[in-house]
Order: sequence, then structure tokens, then C-alpha cells
Amino acid sequence: MKIFAYGIRDDEKPSMEKWEKENPDVEVGYTDQLLTQETAKLADGANGVVTLQTTPYERGALEALKEQGIQSISIRNVGVDNFNFKDLNELGFKLTNVPVYSPNAIAEHTVLLMGRLLRRVPEVDTKFDNGDFTWAPTIGKEYREQTVGVIGTGHIGRVVIKILQGFGAKVIAYDVYHNPDIEKQGLYVDSLEDIYKQSDVITLHVPLFDSNKYMINEKAIEQMKDGVFIVNCARGELIDSEALIKGLDDKKIAGAGLDVLDRENRVFGKKWGSIDNLPDSDIKNLAERENVIITPHNAFYTETAVHNMIKISFDSNKALIEGQTPDTLIDTNK
Ligand code: NAD
Ligand code: COI
Repeated sequence: MKIFAYGIRDDEKPSMEKWEKENPDVEVGYTDQLLTQETAKLADGANGVVTLQTTPYERGALEALKEQGIQSISIRNVGVDNFNFKDLNELGFKLTNVPVYSPNAIAEHTVLLMGRLLRRVPEVDTKFDNGDFTWAPTIGKEYREQTVGVIGTGHIGRVVIKILQGFGAKVIAYDVYHNPDIEKQGLYVDSLEDIYKQSDVITLHVPLFDSNKYMINEKAIEQMKDGVFIVNCARGELIDSEALIKGLDDKKIAGAGLDVLDRENRVFGKKWGSIDNLPDSDIKNLAERENVIITPHNAFYTETAVHNMIKISFDSNKALIEGQTPDTLIDTNK
């Protein structure tokens, strides 16, 4: 059996080599390139592929894999929003993800972004860089005074809630599915409108679908409290960046912590030298603001997460090739 892996980074190699040693019956090949129609041929002779990218998986790439007899794909991450399920079904592909590699990684990053906004850390840092060791005007806010609205109480949202409760924040939550633990604590509100109206800080932890693209738009922002903070460590397209910019301009939104951005593939993963060189005017606009903190979709990026992403994706791909049904199998008919 052979598995071919795409987009392999140096920091993933020790875990991949460990997996290879533990699975001597599997030959592993890899490249640092992403999966495209052109690079699909690198997997020639393999039975399945393991991959990770934030750009769309093109139908041409899937067709090229199928021509080589490969129909098992295992991604190393959670989100499957960059696949077209219709293509996968028509071409007979089986897809697995890694639904739980370390929710704590993303949850900790989320609460750190929130804390940096509440304590105005970017402004404090700028003052420090200018040799200004005074206090004003960077007076901050405490977690225990905040009502935090958590949208999405899945694996990540629930860890966010637990950490926030440790800080003493008041948490309210919204999800289309009610988790029994969160329900028992009485945290759910009935609607997104309730979250918008009551929250001092709003944090997003839902997957991206066609139906919730730009859920945070002008209409949603209008319903929010004045001076709200918004944190997004889920998917960039959940927020309409033009509406976000307008909300920041109007001071309706006091600040935003963004690990993911609308059109992030234009800028993330590359070295620009300076934010002056960013090619997307909305992203540049956001990046220039002291009350907006941007991180390059690295909420997931911890040693624990990276190790689990490799191990679980390779285990899943091996299981698919052996004709098993791993519990990481995605229902592409949904
Ligand atoms: P999960 O599937 O465990 O939880 C998602 C929750 O969202 C579920 O409880 C679901 O019922 C709920 N939901 C779905 N649609 C909804 C809607 N329209 N309104 C309200 N609730 C809705 O997923 P998770 O592991 O918590 O991850 C959440 C998202 O975080 C992923 O889909 C992914 O996009 C993103 N993510 C980002 C990073 C990062 O590095 N920034 C890493 C991993 C995951
Ligand atoms: C995910 O796991 O869905 C992420 O967003 C992490 C990223 C490496 C794609």
C-alpha cells in the first residue's frame, strides 16, 4: 500500500516519519506542493492521498487522481469547505477529515485574541516601541465584566466557553444543535439576534456553508451593542469585510481579532515585507488599524495539533484504502 501526501511542511516531517515507522506495511511519498491538476501525477502509484490546503480543491485535480485509480482523500484539518461535494460524489471519492486534532489550540488562540483586544495590547506595544511608558489612554476591560456570545458550541466553541468561564466572563451561546452540557448550564439563547443584542464580545465557531456566508453583515452588525468586539477563528467568509470596515469606521465595532479573513488566500502564507504591499485593499485597511488584530490562520498551529493532524489523517487514509469506514469519514451527501 502507498499513501502520497501533499503540502508537507518541515514541522510535520517528524510526526510523519514516526507514523511510517509504526506502519511498515505502508510506503509513504510526499511533496511540499499543494494538490492541483498538475501535481496530481506525483501521486502516481499511490492508493490514497493525504492533503492540507486552504485553497479550493479543483475538479481537475480530482479527475487526475481518479485517472490514476486514486479515490481516497484524507485531509489533515477540520474544515471541508474548500471541497465541492458534488464533484466528490460524481467522481466516487471518499473523504475523511480530522474533526478533533486539538480544539484547545484554536480555543486558546481565540481567548488570547480577545484578551489582547480587551487590554488594547497593540496600542500598548506601539507606545512601548515609541519609548512611551505611560498608561493613558490604553485603559482596558476585564473578562468578568464581559458578556461573550459564542456562536457554535461544537468542539472548539465548548473549549472557548470553558476557558472564558475560568476568567469569569458571562457566556451566552447559540447553535442550531444544542449540546447537552451547554444546555444544562442554561447558556443557550434562542436566536442570533439575542447574541447580537446582548454580547460585548462575539466569537464565531461555526463551519462555513453557502447558507451562512457573510452571516456577519451590515444587518447583523446594526443589531449589535455599540462598542462590540468581534473575534473570528472559524472561516473568513463568515464576515463581510466591507460591513466590518464600516462598523469599525462608525465606531459601532470597538475592535476585531481575526485569524481568518475574507479572501485570505490572496495574502496568507506569503511574505509581503510590509503591510503596505498587501494586494487586497480591504485586508490592508483592516491590517492598518490598531484595534484590529490579524493572525495568519495559525490558531491551529501547535505541536500537539500538528502531530495529531498527521497521525489521524494517515490512519484514516490507510483505513479507507483497506475498505474500512473510519469515523472521520465525511458524509458528502449532506
Ligand atoms: P464542530 O463541527 O465541532 O462544531 C461546529 C458547530 O457549529 C456545531 O455544533 C454545529 O451544530 C454548529 N453550527 C453549524 N452551522 C451552524 C449555524 N448556521 N448556526 C449556528 N451553529 C451552527 O466544529 P469545530 O471543531 O468546533 O470547528 C468549527 C470551525 O472552526 C470549523 O468548521 C473550521 O471552519 C474552523 N477551524 C478553524 C481553525 C483555525 O486554525 N483557525 C482550525 C480548526 C477549525
Ligand atoms: C482547519 O482545521 O479547518 C483549519 O482551519 C486549520 C488550517 C490548517 C486549514
